[in-house]
Amino acid sequence: MVDDLNPGTLGLAGRKVLVTGAAQGIGRACAVWLARLGARVVLADIQDCTGSAAEAGNGATARRLDLCDRAAGEALIADLTAGDDPLYALVNCAGLLIRQPFETITAEQIELHTAVNQTGVFFLARATMEAMRRQGGGGRIVLYTSQGAFTGGSFGSTHYAMNKAALTALMKSMARLGGPDGITVNAISPGAVDTPMFRGGMSEADIAQFCKTIPVGRPAEPQELAAPTAFLLSEWARYITGTTLHVNGGQLMV
Ligand SMILES: NC(=O)c1ccc[n+]([C@@H]2O[C@H](COP(=O)([O-])OP(=O)(O)OC[C@H]3O[C@@H](n4cnc5c(N)ncnc54)[C@H](O)[C@@H]3O)[C@@H](O)[C@H]2O)c1
Repeated sequence: MVDDLNPGTLGLAGRKVLVTGAAQGIGRACAVWLARLGARVVLADIQDCTGSAAEAGNGATARRLDLCDRAAGEALIADLTAGDDPLYALVNCAGLLIRQPFETITAEQIELHTAVNQTGVFFLARATMEAMRRQGGGGRIVLYTSQGAFTGGSFGSTHYAMNKAALTALMKSMARLGGPDGITVNAISPGAVDTPMFRGGMSEADIAQFCKTIPVGRPAEPQELAAPTAFLLSEWARYITGTTLHVNGGQLMV
């Protein structure tokens, strides 16, 4: 057996990683921690993420990207893969949740959420995989889904949960297609993470009620999602593909 895993490193030093949704929340924590592990992080968001890039350091750069703008996403990937400096990984954290009771969700709300959470992610991830192939193969793609994909969602998130279930299928499809080229594709499915998205549209009473069902008794801090993200990008995870890593404090045991 060739013993080629280095116990001292995750193997991320110097690697170029694109993190979307990096202006705040989980994406910001992922960008900061991946940079601390030595990755050269490109942060992208519809909001300004220069503050996150400055916090990340290690050569991190900030880009504006609306996931709904397919051409802009594809141009960003083309830019990041031009020349001899390959893109090693995509971490898609960007996502949208505007809570709305099931009975009153409109077609426009479904279209907006689908454009960001599903169609936008599809085209960015596809462009990434195609670029990784052109680079000669190898790479990592991590898509942020949600516990809602497995439970149907709660607190006015049915439309969002539908999108995240679709992303689970996208992840599996891409894992099958990317495997022969050494590209792993996985999902992280968070439960409750203390970010603006989690708190948006939830009262303190809602949050307390939701957290009662978490065995560890609290929501995650964003950096507690950065650690499993780094693991999935690492050399240590090279045989893991097509799977969902559930990071939820035991709230949902799949
Ligand atoms: N926080 C949670 O409890 C939780 C639970 C399950 C899943 N998730 C998922 O984790 C990921 C990160 O969530 P978060 O809690 O950090 O959310 P957040 O709302 O705090 O951050 C999401 C980021 O995505 C960006 N974004 C939104 N629309 C965009 C667009 N069209 N183009 C580019 N960027 C866009 C936002 O500007 C924001 O910076 C999301 O995909 C979310 O669905 C979060």
